[in-house]
Amino acid sequence: MKDVNDLIEETNNRIQKRFRHLLKWANKNNIQYFRIFDRDIAAAPFIIDYLPQHWLVWVCDNNYEQINEQKLIHNISVKLNELNPANVILKFRKKDNVINQIYSKKDVALVVNEWGLKFHLNLTRYLDTGLFIDHRKTREYIAKQVKGKRVLNLFSYTGSFSCYCLKGRASFVTSVDVNPTYSQWHHQNCELNKFSKRNYSICTADVLQFLKSNKTKYDIIICDPPTFSQSKRKHVKRFHIQENASQLLELCQTSLKHNGALLFSTNYRKFKLDQSQAELGFHAKELTAQLCSKDFDGKWMSRSWLIQF
Ligand SMILES: C[S@@+](CC[C@H](N)C(=O)[O-])C[C@H]1O[C@@H](n2cnc3c(N)ncnc32)[C@H](O)[C@@H]1O
Repeated sequence: MKDVNDLIEETNNRIQKRFRHLLKWANKNNIQYFRIFDRDIAAAPFIIDYLPQHWLVWVCDNNYEQINEQKLIHNISVKLNELNPANVILKFRKKDNVINQIYSKKDVALVVNEWGLKFHLNLTRYLDTGLFIDHRKTREYIAKQVKGKRVLNLFSYTGSFSCYCLKGRASFVTSVDVNPTYSQWHHQNCELNKFSKRNYSICTADVLQFLKSNKTKYDIIICDPPTFSQSKRKHVKRFHIQENASQLLELCQTSLKHNGALLFSTNYRKFKLDQSQAELGFHAKELTAQLCSKDFDGKWMSRSWLIQF
């Protein structure tokens, strides 16, 4: 087992190198929120993101109680502050998915820029921050396809895909998410970017129920579901991406115009598209490699396809 002081030095060297390298790229591309470290060293099981005035350290296992890991993370937090003075927020992504933050118990909210857009973030209150930075390039890709088109964004969360589409001059963007807190957050992001209410609607609903009763046909559908979800709301059924894939894709097909396209994405590592493809007979072009952002190089977990029926 490595001596903890050697591990601190090795980890710190890696972080410094990555930060300097990525900061230049981020500044050049107007990116304010990016990843600099993702378990690059096996004995350092955490992720580090950089944002304006904040370092976000995601601790990825259940070993924090162990003295060595505490010492490592404490020292790395001090080094991050030396590298760039900022508030260090620790989030625990344990196996049971419970997150506590020990450095900050208050609400830490801020606005970040990306692609000339602004997004409200909250770094401490929820499981995630409000913006999935791993999909940065996917958002840009789709925004460039939507001019003059009618778009449906399923599992829209805080609306980052929708904001990109509105900036990309989609004629209308409909977004669907079951969680009213995220719908509200989505509204705030649209207002922050001064989008006209004539060009979008945000629907708080279960995606499968929405699609079953939908009568509108869309040019483009974005579908980036969670691996698994379960809700206390009675009308919302348990959802698992692999179990519900064929049903979800078939329902998307019925909401697409002839020649329309579906951007489908998942971060479920064991996901198989083959079975749905055999059942529904669609053409799928995998976009995963081209949509990986520089800060996720070699570590991107999501897979994406452009599907045409
Ligand atoms: C992985 S996030 C989607 C991220 C989003 N595509 C983005 O890039 O910002 C999953 C979202 O799906 C929503 N969700 C989960 N189950 C749902 C369901 N059955 N119907 C509608 N939304 C659901 C959650 O509330 C959450 O906002």
